[in-house]
Amino acid sequence: MNSVLVVGGTSGIGHAFARERAGRGDDVVLTGRDAQRAGAVAEQAGARGIALDLARPLEIAAALADVGRVDHLVIAGVSRDDNKVTEYDIDAALRLVTLKLVGYTEVVHALRGRLHDGSAIVLFGGQAKERPYPGATTVATVNAGVRGMMHTLAVELAPVRVNAVHPGVVGDSPYWQAKPEKVLAALRTETPTGRLATMADVVDAVDFLLRNDSVNAVELTVDGGWLLG
Ligand SMILES: NC(=O)c1ccc[n+]([C@@H]2O[C@H](COP(=O)([O-])OP(=O)(O)OC[C@H]3O[C@@H](n4cnc5c(N)ncnc54)[C@H](OP(=O)(O)O)[C@@H]3O)[C@@H](O)[C@H]2O)c1
Repeated sequence: MNSVLVVGGTSGIGHAFARERAGRGDDVVLTGRDAQRAGAVAEQAGARGIALDLARPLEIAAALADVGRVDHLVIAGVSRDDNKVTEYDIDAALRLVTLKLVGYTEVVHALRGRLHDGSAIVLFGGQAKERPYPGATTVATVNAGVRGMMHTLAVELAPVRVNAVHPGVVGDSPYWQAKPEKVLAALRTETPTGRLATMADVVDAVDFLLRNDSVNAVELTVDGGWLLG
């Protein structure tokens, strides 16, 4: 049984991962911004829920105070930011940059004493860094930043393994599922596999990155070959 912490585990891919691991008998803690929502979602999943706001990094250490030893750490939290450089929303950009780049790093910093030599971490980036869509200015930037973060953490925390996953468009995730079918159909035709990645595909990739003892400092894309389409 592993002790698992999923930051951003109340929805989407993080939630699917937390549910999968709790179902396998792991001791899972998941987070969201609201304690009540996190508690309710966690109870359904067979996990424990706590509140944590990645965009308020000075408060993260206190929020994680009662989390114990961590074998597997998954940091998946995101808030949507629709930002174009032509209509730049600085407040929204600062929020997302803080959340992904400072918040993710502070989670690891706060937990460093609870990681051990066999611990493994997966950070969530995304393929918007390679193939941005309209409004992805900040998303593309922070997801590219996850690459550097992953590298430096793998060096500084060694022998703890640190990897990153970069999903393409995950068709059954709440964000994309809400888009018109016309949009999703166009994306499918641009993808060599003829289908969009699913949350289950990404959960499986994250699981592999956490389990394999020689996979370290790797960026794993899960996008059906989208960049070649
Ligand atoms: N979905 C995709 O197609 C896709 C593609 C590429 C990359 N990704 C990446 O995959 C990860 C998961 O994406 P998703 O689409 O599954 O996400 P999602 O469904 O939008 O869920 C986001 C999670 O982050 C939490 N969250 C939001 N704001 C937060 C904050 N300020 N502090 C802490 N937690 C916060 C949410 O919890 P509460 O709302 O309860 O606070 C929720 O648990 C993200 O890092 C995203 O960038 C996703």
